[in-house]
Amino acid sequence: MDVLLLLCALLVALPNVAVVESRKAPVLDYFEYCAMSCRAYSASLEEFGGVGDGTTLNTGAFQAAIDHLSQYASSGGSQLYVPPGRWLTGSFNLTSHFTLFLHKDAVILGSQDENDWPVIDPLPSYGRGRDTQGGRFSSLIFGTNLTDVIITGNNGTLDGQGDLWWQKFHKGELSYTRPYLIEIMYSDNVQISNLTLVNSPSWNVHPVYSSNVVVQGVTILAPVTSPNTDGINPDSCTNTRIEDCYIVSGDDCVAVKSGWDEYGIAYGMPTKQLVIRRLTCISPFSAVIALGSEMSGGIQDVRAEDIVAINSESGVRIKTAVGRGGYVKDIFVRRMTMNTMKWAFWMTGNYGSHADDKYDPNALPVIQNINYRDMVAENVTMAARLEGISGDPFTGICISNVTIQMAKKAKKVPWTCTDIDGISSDVTPAPCNLLPEQGEEKIGACTFPEESLPIEDIQVQTCTYSRNL
Ligand SMILES: *[C@@H]1O[C@H](CO)[C@@H](O)[C@H](O)[C@H]1NC(C)=O
Ligand SMILES: *[C@@H]1O[C@H](CO)[C@@H](O)[C@H](O)[C@H]1NC(C)=O
Ligand SMILES: *[C@@H]1O[C@H](CO)[C@@H](O)[C@H](O)[C@H]1NC(C)=O
Ligand SMILES: *[C@@H]1O[C@H](CO)[C@@H](O)[C@H](O)[C@H]1NC(C)=O
Ligand SMILES: *[C@@H]1O[C@H](CO)[C@@H](O)[C@H](O)[C@H]1NC(C)=O
Ligand SMILES: *[C@@H]1O[C@H](CO)[C@@H](O)[C@H](O)[C@H]1NC(C)=O
Repeated sequence: MDVLLLLCALLVALPNVAVVESRKAPVLDYFEYCAMSCRAYSASLEEFGGVGDGTTLNTGAFQAAIDHLSQYASSGGSQLYVPPGRWLTGSFNLTSHFTLFLHKDAVILGSQDENDWPVIDPLPSYGRGRDTQGGRFSSLIFGTNLTDVIITGNNGTLDGQGDLWWQKFHKGELSYTRPYLIEIMYSDNVQISNLTLVNSPSWNVHPVYSSNVVVQGVTILAPVTSPNTDGINPDSCTNTRIEDCYIVSGDDCVAVKSGWDEYGIAYGMPTKQLVIRRLTCISPFSAVIALGSEMSGGIQDVRAEDIVAINSESGVRIKTAVGRGGYVKDIFVRRMTMNTMKWAFWMTGNYGSHADDKYDPNALPVIQNINYRDMVAENVTMAARLEGISGDPFTGICISNVTIQMAKKAKKVPWTCTDIDGISSDVTPAPCNLLPEQGEEKIGACTFPEESLPIEDIQVQTCTYSRNL
């Protein structure tokens, strides 16, 4: 599989403008890219009246183009090319068997006018918007009930122009929950790749109630002080792969979720079979990989590897609370390098933050079988803070072959542990008593699954786009 990917990547490295043999008509645009599926029909945003001057509103052009192209869904699918330019737009909706392709100098700019953002219902598994009760602004690029949808480009940009939204959030002036840059709901076969996402009003990439999702080669940038600018949030999704991403943001780089308190429990849709690999993250006030805090539908079978954390608050963090219900189990993380961290590991059983006061105080989350191995961390203030729930301990924690070099100004007690249970082997500094050292023969404890997940076997093809005069 990796070989195929590489092959496709090499082809893409060819010059953008190639000569299509024996055609008289001059070729306006021609390029190749890698995708899960290629398309029979092509169009450019300019054909639908798009103007990339940074001030003309293109919501109508995007929606007209996509509505027109949706007719090809059952006859080979379609692709919409966004040429170089600054394309101001409000929220628009995608269609099935469709590819949105951004040229490297294309910037899709989020409108600053709330009227350009339709208000949609809260997610059923959350019961309310995260910023406000009630509805939420539709995401800049939104898709629901789709199959086979691709958002990609030669590293083109989505710019959410989030500053105005952040100010409204801080001043309590939001009438609805802030929009995300990309949200794909109730969909199957989704690819989001080779893009740069900057200054999202809130979360960046939110696949929810979806399956077979690949997020690859995405750069996400937002000020580290911007509120809730999570990078990628797989939420009640099955079979997801996040790889080769670089994220600097004001909240968790990857936040795995599955619904909130009684709403998430009732909806009952877990996130499972998730691969996260080759992620680089800078998140001074949040986690590199967070599990929760909304995890009421359950989180199971997460495999993260080859993660680089720089100047982040914590490496892997589990966040939950009484009333969440659900579970976080079968979590496997290996080969993580961390530099300048407050905590390498953090588990929080009293996160609080409830949707409302109707949560069930007897709904206790199950946190179980959490495996961390083969890690090196430098300049760490506290090795770990592992706090389960009284009467509901977090169990089956396994940490092995982890070397944590403490900062000069480190806290005297590197590990704090309460209401947890597990083992360790070959970990420095020595963990707390609740994670007893197993000795030499158990080095290499904390398994990492050997068989691959179906999402790791998705085929990519080399697709072409061409348009003649
Ligand atoms: C996109 O779809 C949602 C849900 O179907 C709808 O509420 C919204 O108005 C649509 N947006 C646009 C711009 O048509
Ligand atoms: C989308 O799918 C969900 C879940 O299957 C369903 O409840 C909803 O009615 C569908 N919406 C549309 C617009 O088809
Ligand atoms: C994409 O663009 C971003 C922002 O300019 C840059 O940091 C990143 O290195 C680029 N990625 C690639 C693969 O060129
Ligand atoms: C897309 O990203 C992958 C890796 O993230 C890279 O190998 C490939 O060359 C990129 N393709 C384009 C068109 O930039
Ligand atoms: C170590 O971490 C501190 C913050 O805790 C930071 O100020 C310092 O620059 C870091 N040192 C190195 C060598 O990275
Ligand atoms: C321990 O982890 C390091 C990476 O941090 C790795 O290179 C080494 O092979 C691991 N050792 C064992 C015994 O797995």
